[in-house]
Amino acid sequence: MRKLFMSLLLVPMMALAGNVKSPNGNIELKFTIDDGGRPVYEMTYKGREVVKPSHLGLELAKDKHASKGLKETDLMDGFTLKSEKSSTFDETWQPVWGETKDIRNHYNELEATLEQSATKRTILIRFRVYDDGIGFRYEFPQQPELNYFLIKEERSEFAMAGDHKAWWLPGDYDTQEQMTQETKLSEIRNRMRSAVNWGNSSVAVFSETGVQTSLQMKSDDGLYINIHEAACLDYATMHLELVDAQTKALTTKLGGGSNAYTPNPKPSPWPLPAPLTFVSHLTPDATGLKGAMQTPCETPWRTVMVSDDARDMLSNNLILNLNEPCKIEDTSWIHPTKYCGVWWEMIVGKSSWNYTDEFPSIKLDQIDWNKVKPNGRHAANNEKVKRYIDFAAKNGLQEVLVEGWNVGWEDWANMWKRDVFDFVTPYPDFDIKMLNDYAHSKGVKILMHHETSSSSQNYERHIEDAFTLMNKYGYDAVKTGYVGDIIPRGDHHYSQSMNNHYLYVIKEAAKHHIMVNSHEATRPTGLCRTYPNLVGGESARGTEYEAFGGSNPDHTCILPFTRLQGGPMDYTPGIFETKLSTWSSNTSWARITIAGSLALYLTMYSPLQMAADLPENYEKYDDAFQFIRDVACDWDDSKYLEAEPGDYITVARKAKGTNNWFIGGKCDENGHKTAIRLDFLDKGRKYDCTIYADAKDAHYEHNPKAYVITKKVVTAKDVLKLTEAPGGGFAVSLIAK
Ligand code: NOJ
Ligand code: CA
Repeated sequence: MRKLFMSLLLVPMMALAGNVKSPNGNIELKFTIDDGGRPVYEMTYKGREVVKPSHLGLELAKDKHASKGLKETDLMDGFTLKSEKSSTFDETWQPVWGETKDIRNHYNELEATLEQSATKRTILIRFRVYDDGIGFRYEFPQQPELNYFLIKEERSEFAMAGDHKAWWLPGDYDTQEQMTQETKLSEIRNRMRSAVNWGNSSVAVFSETGVQTSLQMKSDDGLYINIHEAACLDYATMHLELVDAQTKALTTKLGGGSNAYTPNPKPSPWPLPAPLTFVSHLTPDATGLKGAMQTPCETPWRTVMVSDDARDMLSNNLILNLNEPCKIEDTSWIHPTKYCGVWWEMIVGKSSWNYTDEFPSIKLDQIDWNKVKPNGRHAANNEKVKRYIDFAAKNGLQEVLVEGWNVGWEDWANMWKRDVFDFVTPYPDFDIKMLNDYAHSKGVKILMHHETSSSSQNYERHIEDAFTLMNKYGYDAVKTGYVGDIIPRGDHHYSQSMNNHYLYVIKEAAKHHIMVNSHEATRPTGLCRTYPNLVGGESARGTEYEAFGGSNPDHTCILPFTRLQGGPMDYTPGIFETKLSTWSSNTSWARITIAGSLALYLTMYSPLQMAADLPENYEKYDDAFQFIRDVACDWDDSKYLEAEPGDYITVARKAKGTNNWFIGGKCDENGHKTAIRLDFLDKGRKYDCTIYADAKDAHYEHNPKAYVITKKVVTAKDVLKLTEAPGGGFAVSLIAK
C-alpha cells in the first residue's frame, strides 16, 4: 500500500477526563464508572442524544477450573478507573481499490484502564470519536489472572433515545438472505415471525427482538444512526437484541431451520436503563459458548455512525478506518474486475450444476466419471464455456465465472455430507487446460468456483491442492460458497471458529495471489482494508432471489446503508430480461427496469461487478449493454448527491486515473425525480454525455424494458433533469473530451 501522505500526532488533549469530542466538535462521548463499578458511556451529536447512558461489559463462562468448584467472575462490574489517556490521530491513506483515492482517518481517542479489584484483573476500553461516528472496543492485556477465558455473552448496550424507524433483518446465526423490514423499534417484536423466510437453506433466528447489524435507523427528528462493527477478527459476529417495554425475558422460541433455535437465558444484572435498549448478542459455537480468548487480545470495534444527512451514512469511512492497514505487501495482482458467468441459467433452473442424474448419492472416490450417463443439462461444458469466454472478450469483461465445473454436485447441499467436493477434479466435459488456454489467448481469465456446502473442514483439508491447481491453470480469483448448515454439525456461519475459517481462506489465498469473493460467509466488517484480496462477498439477499420469488424494488436502496457498510457486495446485477419465463420455465420476475439495472453498477459499490444475465439477453439490448461495457469499477472520487434509505440513492463517481465520470440513480417502487448539477466536473472542460433513462411509461412490473438513450455534450454548468420510473433508475456516462 502506497502512502502519499501521513501524519501521526499523539498529543495529550486538554479534554475533561472521560469526555471526548470529535475533531469538529459535533460528536461528544462521555465515559464514567457508575456506583456499582459498571462502565457507562453516552453519545451526543450536535447536542442531541444518540446513545443514552449504556453499560459495557462481558459475561464470562466458567473455565476448566469449574470442576474444582471455582466460579468465573464476569467482567461486568466492580471496576475502578485506574487511568485515562486521550490522544488525537490524523492520517490519510490510499486503499488498493475503493470509492475514493484517499481516505482520511481523523479521530480523538480515549483509552480507559479499568481494574476489577476482586479478581485482580485489568481491562481497557478504547473509544475513537470521529466527526461521523464512534467506535469502541474492549482490550485484554496479558496478566496472571487473565490468560485464557471463555465468553458467555458480551453485554454492550446501545440505549436508543427514541422509538426510531429501523431497517432491519431478523437476527440469525446463519443467514442474512432475508428481505429488510422497515418498522419502528417497538414494532420489531410483532413483525419478527413474518420477517423470516424459513425456506432458506440455513436459518437460525434466536429471539423475537434480535436483529442483525449493520442496523440503519432514523429518528423522528431526522438523525440517521447506524450500528455495526469493525475488524471482527478471532471473535463471533455480533447481533443486537432489543429490550423493549414488554420484555420479561429475552427468550421466545421461534423454531425453524435445521439448526433450530438456541435459547438465550435471561441476562443479569438486570434491568437495563432505558425502554428501547439494544444489547449485543454474539453468535455461539457448537458448545453454545460465544468466544474462547487468549490474552493479549481485543474484541472487534462496536460502531455507531450518526449524521443529520443521509448521504454521510454512505460516504462514511469509519468501518474501514477502524481496521488495520493492509497486511499484503505486494498488491499488484489485486485488480477490480467485471465478469460474466455460466451461472444465471442454473439459478433459474434452465440448466444444472450436476453432470448426471444417475445416482441417488455420490461417493467421490467410487465413481468413474467417464462412464456415467450425462443428464444433457450440464452447463459447465466446453462449448458453452467457450461461448461465454468469447462474449467476455468481445465486451471487455475480464473474467468468466464457471460454476458446476467440478465433480460432486449430484448431492451437494444439505446432506450433512463431509466429503462433498475435492475442488480439483473436473467433470469429463470440462477440459480445464483447454478452456483456460482458450480464455488466456483472448485476454480473459476463468473465475474459479469453490462451493464448500459449508463443510469447512473438508475445504481446509483440500485448500492447498485447490489453490495450487488454480495457480497451475492461471486462475486469480475464487468465488467460495457456504450453502446449508455448517459441518461439523452444530456450529454456525457467524461463530468465532467459522469467522476464523473465512480469514484462513483469505490469508491462504493471498499466499497464492488469489482474490476471494465469499458467498453465505459472515457479513463483512471492513477486513478488506487489511486483506484487499477480499474483493467481494454476498452475505445478504443477492440478485439470485429475483429467480426465487423476487425482492422488493426498494431492496437496493437499503443495502448500501446496511450490508455494504462493512465491505463490497457481489450483488450480481445486470438482469435485462426481467421476466424469466420468456426464456426459462421459471415464473419469477426481477422487480427492476433495465435503466435501474444499469444504475446498480454505481449505487452498489464493488470492485467486482458481474454482468449476470445471459449473453443472448444482452445481445437483444446491445445499446443499453454499452453502459456495462463502459462503466468503471474502481474510482478516484465518489460524490453521493442524494440519498434516503429505502427511497433513492444518486451517486457520481470519477473513474480511476481518468477524467471520466459515471452517475447512477436508483429508486424504490414510487419513482423519483432528480436534477443533477454537474458542478463537480472540471470547469471549462467538455464531456460526451450518454444518458440511459427510463422511458416515460417505464415501470418495473408492466414495462421494465422501456428505456431511452440520449447523447449530448455537457459542461460543469449543466443540470440533468431526470425521471426515474417506479422500480427504476438511470445511468450516465461522462467521457472527458
Ligand atoms: C449460492 C450462491 O449465492 C450462488 O451464487 C451459487 O450459485 C450457489 N450458492 C451454488 O454455489
Ligand atoms: Ca446465496
